[in-house]
Amino acid sequence: MELILVNKQVAAGVAQISLNRPKELNALNPQLMGELLQALQDLDQDSTVRAIVLTGSDQAFAAGADIRQMAGMSAIDMVQKNQFQVWDDMVKISKPILAAVSGYALGGGCELAMMCDLIIASETAKFGQPEVKIGTIPGAGGTQRLTRAVGKAKAMELILSGRFLSASEAIQFGLVARVCPVESYLSETITLATEIAAMPPIAVRLAKEAVNEAYESSLSSGIAFERRNFYLTFASADQKEGMQAFIEKRKPNFTGK
Ligand code: CAA
Repeated sequence: MELILVNKQVAAGVAQISLNRPKELNALNPQLMGELLQALQDLDQDSTVRAIVLTGSDQAFAAGADIRQMAGMSAIDMVQKNQFQVWDDMVKISKPILAAVSGYALGGGCELAMMCDLIIASETAKFGQPEVKIGTIPGAGGTQRLTRAVGKAKAMELILSGRFLSASEAIQFGLVARVCPVESYLSETITLATEIAAMPPIAVRLAKEAVNEAYESSLSSGIAFERRNFYLTFASADQKEGMQAFIEKRKPNFTGK
């Protein structure tokens, strides 16, 4: 891995992936995206990892897809390269992914953060879909995920003008779960990831699936999906242990089964 750094145990049950292309503000080229997908898939298979933190640097989470690499491409090049396949595969990661975002999260960088399960931002974070300023539009889900996250009016404002959203606006519009000082956004994200990692993994996985289903379905079919996952948790030893521990007024001992 050249363009990302992976720490498999940054805290109990928590792995951290850091985008590491600092001179280009973590601009997302195919190599970086390939390494990121590979690392996520490896961590998804690693039973010692229960939550993943994805971060950049204090200056930039990621300043977007690599404009230099894209500039000369034709539409047919893009169809043939199918470069968004990597992005589609990232959605299939079953473990929770928390984005710790500071500085620029623009274009593909904003889209990458929004593909994570939740975002914790530093006070310096700047979110945006500025593709219009370079003659194109978001291509990795921005028009859809930003609209679902912040609503049509704000999404239109950002996508049509290319202006950036500050961290305080991002929390106001529900794009991020928390805003923290730049000194602590990463440690707060790791702490939250550690709390999630201590939860029974089958319930966490089924809950993540069910929340994400809210993006994909009508209310009634989303509720039906949720109900099936709720029933499924009753096939796990951790559900029996969690409820028995509550009744016996003791701490549960989850085994991940
Ligand atoms: N692609 C390639 N290189 C980039 C980049 C990007 N998206 N963003 C920044 N860089 C590079 C710059 O070219 C520069 O490199 P050099 O030092 O070699 O010139 C270096 O990173 C530092 O950038 P700046 O000098 O521009 O730094 P700044 O502090 O003045 O500005 C910025 C920071 C506002 C983020 C500015 O770099 C910028 O506007 N970047 C582009 C943002 C953008 O348009 N992103 C969307 C890309 S398209 C996309 O993502 C499509 C999609 O949906 C998949």
